[in-house]
Amino acid sequence: MRIIFIGPPGAGKGTQCMRLTQHLKIPHFSTGEMLRATRNQSALGRVVASYIDGGRLAPDYLVMRLVTKRLAMPDCVGGCLFDGFPRTVDQARMLDEYLVEKNGKIDLVLNLVADQEELIARLLKRSTLEDRVDDNAETISARLRVFHTQTAPVLDYYAGRDLVRTVDGMQSPDKVFEEILGHLP
Ligand code: AP5
Repeated sequence: MRIIFIGPPGAGKGTQCMRLTQHLKIPHFSTGEMLRATRNQSALGRVVASYIDGGRLAPDYLVMRLVTKRLAMPDCVGGCLFDGFPRTVDQARMLDEYLVEKNGKIDLVLNLVADQEELIARLLKRSTLEDRVDDNAETISARLRVFHTQTAPVLDYYAGRDLVRTVDGMQSPDKVFEEILGHLP
């Protein structure tokens, strides 16, 4: 099974992916984490850092290179959870092209929604607990803008295939997970 998690920053994609990966026993990967792992490690990593720190999306070609490398690993053959990918319509198209070649498909797209005030509050709170350089007021608002302009259209891309299910991310993590389980094919 291949499941995509889409949602604005702070909606709970990572939190719910961690739960679902254990429940379904399939791997989960976050393109945000993959990109953060490259930051400052090379000239390319420093370029990646400039995108993340500014709340802008890293270039599609770079993201696709990381994703296709990960998908080629044996543990992903039976399926995986995509956390924060695809984030542009072009990424979604390239993922489809890759999966068609491998006789694979997307089974479900979970659209996590939450109020903007709540998202900002969650991320500002996280900035006091963890060291995420993009969890500051200015970058959070850039990330939210980018979500609405570049990532929300990905939902329309999948909508024609009746794959998208909207999940209320304002509930407690347990309730959100319960709702997600109810959407599994
Ligand atoms: P990424 O790492 O994907 O960050 P994001 O999308 O901004 O998402 P977050 O991790 O902030 O939030 P989340 O929805 O996962 O929520 P979480 O569970 O962590 O991307 C970072 C950057 O990398 C991007 O800005 C971009 O530059 C780049 N990038 C990544 N992917 C890319 C791609 N495909 N293409 C190009 N560039 C890409 O929860 C957040 C907080 O809320 C936590 O503290 C959590 O404990 C809390 N929380 C979660 N659920 C609840 C709940 N139900 N109630 C109360 N609190 C909750």
